This record gives sequence, C-alpha cells and structure tokens, in this order.
Amino acid sequence: MLREIVKKGDEVLNKKCHAVTKFDDKLHTLLDDMADTLRDADGVGLAAPQVGILRQVVLVINENDEIIELINPEIIKTSGEQFGLEGCLSVPGRYGFVKRPMVVRVRAQDRYGNTFEVEDEGLTARCFCHEIDHLSGHLFDELVDRTYTVEEIEQMEEEGREVEE
Ligand code: CO
Repeated sequence: MLREIVKKGDEVLNKKCHAVTKFDDKLHTLLDDMADTLRDADGVGLAAPQVGILRQVVLVINENDEIIELINPEIIKTSGEQFGLEGCLSVPGRYGFVKRPMVVRVRAQDRYGNTFEVEDEGLTARCFCHEIDHLSGHLFDELVDRTYTVEEIEQMEEEGREVEE
C-alpha cells in the first residue's frame, strides 16, 4: 500500500527516530508499504520518517535494483570520498552537490531481527549515508551551500561548467 511522502517543512523530518525492538507484522507491513512507495516514486532510497514513522527503518535500492532493508542501521566503516549530485523525495525538485565517502559498510538488522553487514560503493554508498542521516533528523540540503533546480543543473551541463567543490 502506498504511503504519503512527507515533504520538507514537516517537523517529523527533523526528529530523531527510535530503535525498532519488535520485528512483527506491523514492521513487515511498514517495510512492504515503504517498498511500494519507493518504487512508485521512482527513488533509490526511503527512510521511515519520510512516511511519518519515527523508527530506525531504511530502504535502499542497490545497482542491481534490489531493495535492501536496513533496521537499526549504523555505519561502521567508510573509505574514500565522492562528490556528486544528491536529491531527496522529501525535497522535490532541489538537488545539491554533497561530499560522501566512496565506500560505506553498514551493520543493521533484517526484518526478522537478524544482524548482518552490507558494504557498497558509489551511488549505493551515498544512499546509505543519506538515508541513515534521515534517522537522526537530517536532510542533505543541510550539507550544501545551496541547492539547484533541474533547469539550473541542465544549464551547467550545457555550459560544460565544472562544479566547484
Ligand atoms: Co532523503
């Protein structure tokens, strides 16, 4: 079932999420609904506060188009650096250039409470960082001096302008 995506300005996006302690049907319904909502919105990641739920639950779609469910996730290792465009389903139409680690390793629990680790790089690593930031009430636009519209980005690309770091 689709859930409504909360937009920037709603204070639920700025609150800290609680840890999940019950790995029950209610959690599974939330995860399934978040997956439907993420696919419908054509995004690559979604955090529970974006559907108004203050729980430490995150979905990330990796480069193989697989949904990774991360419950109570924490970043345990990072390396390298990347600088690139980032957006958010809760900040529609705005994009910013954000510095993130190139490789990110996450420890989390699955929907049944089993602990596992996952490591990825590039866009998926960026997505791990972005989504996990949501759980502490942070949005990507706090990390940039300014955001850009799609038109502005296309303009920059046309001009072949290098984006300043
Ligand atoms: Co986001």
